[in-house]
Amino acid sequence: MFRLIFSLSVLIALGGALDLNHIGPYIDIPLKPLKTSAERIREHGYPAESHFVETSDGYILNLFRIPYSPRLNNQLERKPVVFIQHGLFSCSDCFLLNGPENAIAYNFADAGFDVWLGNARGNIYSRSHSTLTTSNPKFWMFSWHEIGTIDMPESIDYVLEQTGESALHYVGHSQGGTVYFVMLSSRPEYNAKIKTGHGLAPAVYMGNVTDGIVAGLAPYVGSPGVGADLLSNQPFVPYNPQVQRLLDSACGGEPAYPKYCETLFLMWAGNEQSNLNATLLPQLAETHPAGISTNQGIHFIQLKVSNKFRQYDFGAKKNQLKYNQAEPPEYPLEKITADTFLYYGLNDGSANAKDMKRLPQFLPNLRLFHEVPNPTWGHLDFIFAKQVKQEINDPVVQYCKAYEEGY
Ligand SMILES: *[C@@H]1O[C@H](CO)[C@@H](O)[C@H](O)[C@H]1NC(C)=O
Ligand SMILES: *[C@@H]1O[C@H](CO)[C@@H](O)[C@H](O)[C@H]1NC(C)=O
Repeated sequence: MFRLIFSLSVLIALGGALDLNHIGPYIDIPLKPLKTSAERIREHGYPAESHFVETSDGYILNLFRIPYSPRLNNQLERKPVVFIQHGLFSCSDCFLLNGPENAIAYNFADAGFDVWLGNARGNIYSRSHSTLTTSNPKFWMFSWHEIGTIDMPESIDYVLEQTGESALHYVGHSQGGTVYFVMLSSRPEYNAKIKTGHGLAPAVYMGNVTDGIVAGLAPYVGSPGVGADLLSNQPFVPYNPQVQRLLDSACGGEPAYPKYCETLFLMWAGNEQSNLNATLLPQLAETHPAGISTNQGIHFIQLKVSNKFRQYDFGAKKNQLKYNQAEPPEYPLEKITADTFLYYGLNDGSANAKDMKRLPQFLPNLRLFHEVPNPTWGHLDFIFAKQVKQEINDPVVQYCKAYEEGY
């Protein structure tokens, strides 16, 4: 995951360094406007709402909602709620790109759910704060610990208040699963607000990660020190609308530059290309990477080095001040009592099967521990594979429906 997206980020950063106003006239590509998740949803004839949640520490998070399905015409019925949370470098768009037939957000809407899509602090949708600007390093002083202990619980409370429900279904991909484990272990009172929780390749234990960037950077930033200090508290590759529009225009529809787009796709997909939906490339390029703080990446790499699922390591001195102990505390996973469903793939370099197998022992209410049978199933396949509807979306929706019907 890191390698693919990192490569694209580097490319986009490089592209950003060139003056596109100069290149533009020569290659003559008309730039298309960017779309929000709400616009993408409406384009397919579904109703969409945009909501803003201000967190207790001032971040303004943009949530999107598909309140009902035009196919069911169920506007006035009471509907169970599902909250879907994206992974690292991603945003709410990822659950929409496969379109109404194959993307999980629409699949849930068409199964009669009220669908909410979260956006973590720092991504393209959640880049405002009540007092800080994004050029202030303080804005970027967070990791997925804060996303799990603040953004998720406060977004969930907002959704429950808006819908009048007392609990909801939760689906998280990758980091969206990480923050589920952080939330329910650190704030166990939230277990009662989860009807079922689905971790699609959640990144929790990372000792066996084989992914190039994580393993490669581990010696430099995996432990507190100069490397980590230099890199911490920054946005990781600012989102560059102009470059992304260029990519979309160059590779969308009948690609004007097929070779260029092919190379780009290989960089994205790496050895996962066998399952990824190639038609998605232009939209992927347009929407990703959606922005993170470097601390999120550093925190994941620390997990690889420590082989533990624990809080951010600031170094012994600062840990002592913050945690009252020299080593960061581990998340108490045994406090996760919500009904949990886990899904993992055998060709996933980020949520490795070996690391996944350490989780069931902690989860008293684990209802499903599912290995996707296709041996080539990789980390991004949980969202973007051609077979994602049959392999992932349909079963997840079915388990949520089964819960509603009393299992
Ligand atoms: C890798 O996975 C195995 C099996 O789950 C586990 O015992 C081990 O601690 C993990 N981490 C490393 C670094 O081997
Ligand atoms: C692949 O992506 C395209 C473009 O978004 C979408 O229309 C199509 O349904 C997707 N196919 C599958 C099998 O997911």
